[in-house]
Amino acid sequence: MKVTVVGAGNVGATVAECVARKDMASEVVLIDIVEGLPQGKALDMQESAPIHLFDTKIVGTNDYSDTAGSDICVITAGLARKPGMSRDDLLAKNASIVGSVTEQFVAHSPNAIIIVVSNPLDVMTNVAYLKSGFPSQRVFGMAGVLDTARYRAFIAEELGVSVRDIQALLMGGHGDTMVPLPRYTTVAGIPLPQLLSEEKINAIVERTKFGGGEIVKLMGTSAWYAPGAAAAEMVEAIIKDSGRVLPCAVWLTGQYGVEDQFIGAPCRLGRNGVEEILEVELSADEQALMDQSSEHVRENLASLARLQAN
Ligand code: NAI
Ligand code: 2OP
Repeated sequence: MKVTVVGAGNVGATVAECVARKDMASEVVLIDIVEGLPQGKALDMQESAPIHLFDTKIVGTNDYSDTAGSDICVITAGLARKPGMSRDDLLAKNASIVGSVTEQFVAHSPNAIIIVVSNPLDVMTNVAYLKSGFPSQRVFGMAGVLDTARYRAFIAEELGVSVRDIQALLMGGHGDTMVPLPRYTTVAGIPLPQLLSEEKINAIVERTKFGGGEIVKLMGTSAWYAPGAAAAEMVEAIIKDSGRVLPCAVWLTGQYGVEDQFIGAPCRLGRNGVEEILEVELSADEQALMDQSSEHVRENLASLARLQAN
């Protein structure tokens, strides 16, 4: 399997490293617009192979012909948030970058699966979908795996339990309107509301919603370790055809009351990309939060359309 990672910055390099270290692909291609950067990072990673013991070949390049015949592409190219910026501030600039890299990538790999990471995530996934001309089964976004990981990490810390025992569901757009679902969160099968007070759960839910911003405030730019690992987990599910059920930004056609729009929902990933979108029952309150989140993504799509028309 050949995996291309577009954008050799913080997130892109971490995705490439996580994929290589798990020895799941024969080749990882790291491509960026900046000359020397992907080549240098690829060489540095390759030199770690005898220590980490992987056989994956890592190629750094500025030339899309080196990505030809890729099975999977992870798009991380674009600007990242700086303090005071929301993900939405990145809208117009990143749409132009994501559109252009998608076009160049698909010209060489017409059968690939595309995982979008660039922000604002749900809208950028839509941009890549339209530019690629691929079926929606082969274009989706990474956000829910990261947001759920943050949510699970905070729960594990609060309860003093292993992260291994926490299963959680989180839906909606990648932003402050995301929808963590405590009712569908368990610790070794025990529903979370039986272990934590409503007040504690609400505090964890709020921290999760603003988890990206918490890191931007601390270090002046956005996160990469957890985002990179999250995207690599999706790549692994596809390569291994494992049927993992992961929350991804997927094209919904009526599920959860969302019509023709990318937004986070649980799906089964496999060799063909999104093999199935799972539908769970939402309470009226949960559905209202999902509606709000979907409306926010819809407003962003409209803002981008206005910016592009001018
Ligand atoms: P970064 O600034 O470290 O890296 C971005 C890279 O993209 C740079 O190396 C830059 O040269 C490259 N780039 C820019 N234009 C390009 C083009 N036309 N072709 C190829 N490469 C190009 O940023 P970082 O931290 O890696 O973040 C990347 C993106 O991922 C941002 O938009 C960020 O907001 C987003 N992100 C999304 C997350 C999610 O959960 N979906 C989580 C974390 C970050
Ligand atoms: C994050 O959640 C900024 O989307 C990025 O860390």
